[in-house]
Amino acid sequence: MIATYQALCQKRVDTALEPLFQAPAAELDRVYAAMRYSVMNGGKRVRPLLAYAACEALGGVAEDANGAACAVELIHAYSLVHDDLPAMDDDDLRRGQPTTHKAFDEACAILAGDGLQSLAFTALTDPRLNTRDAETRLQMVQTLAQAAGPAGMVGGQAIDLGSVGLKLDQAALENMHRHKTGALIEASVRLGALASGHGDAARLDALQVYARAVGLAFQVQDDILDVESDTATLGKRQGADIARDKPTYPALLGLDAAKAYALQLRDQALEALQPFDNAAEPLRLLARYIVERRN
Ligand code: IPE
Ligand code: IPE
Ligand code: MG
Ligand code: MG
Ligand code: MG
Repeated sequence: MIATYQALCQKRVDTALEPLFQAPAAELDRVYAAMRYSVMNGGKRVRPLLAYAACEALGGVAEDANGAACAVELIHAYSLVHDDLPAMDDDDLRRGQPTTHKAFDEACAILAGDGLQSLAFTALTDPRLNTRDAETRLQMVQTLAQAAGPAGMVGGQAIDLGSVGLKLDQAALENMHRHKTGALIEASVRLGALASGHGDAARLDALQVYARAVGLAFQVQDDILDVESDTATLGKRQGADIARDKPTYPALLGLDAAKAYALQLRDQALEALQPFDNAAEPLRLLARYIVERRN
């Protein structure tokens, strides 16, 4: 059951995240409060789940992926805080609550996002959260930096903002989605795999194929939900893409073809897991959940 696995992983990552938001001095209370507000607010924690599940698929102990799980959620939370800013998507609602710049103010939200990004790298390098050797930790830092930065998420966000009102073809849309969302999801699987301390080249490659498919499927489903879900279920404003004339899969292919494409990507992901035994069951559950989720 994905709900049971999700609850277990949410508790584990939230417990590991919580101490990162202790302000070391009273004058830092506000920025730390904004960081905590942006993270400890009931996200689905899909990226931490993927990190834990990849670690377990390779025979690792889930707790060994705590640093990886915290790091990917911190980058994700930072990306959402900035994504919601007036200069970007200008959204007021996130995870069912006012966005960080609404609950605090814009300058504070920018700094909170910046701070969360730094904390992500702190989590990966802290031996209490990431018990792998220094060389592996460095490899993990490189993996995250690549995925979060201009060659990954930041690049995808730049393409997104530059594409408003344009008609992208399917290849260009896929390129945007692979950068803005796929890159961090791929990194979540990769970091979980590295955190396991196991994994031969063939199995790491298979996980990469899995992650590439679920990474794209995740954003296709996000685009679908923007069309057919509702604000209360989503916890963010339904119809935001349409209102802003964003290029999305439903806009390009139509809703039915976008749904069929999401299912095709799910099947590609499951196919990549063929060589794995029962230890990969959480990854299989996640591939299904990503295209069936309602929020
Ligand atoms: C939303 O991500 C933004 C995208 C990258 C599509 P999630 O759907 O994972 O949001 P939370 O973390 O559960 O709020
Ligand atoms: C966000 O994409 C991708 C990020 C890197 C944050 P969206 O702009 O579609 O995310 P939502 O729909 O606001 O969550
Ligand atoms: Mg956006
Ligand atoms: Mg947005
Ligand atoms: Mg969206």
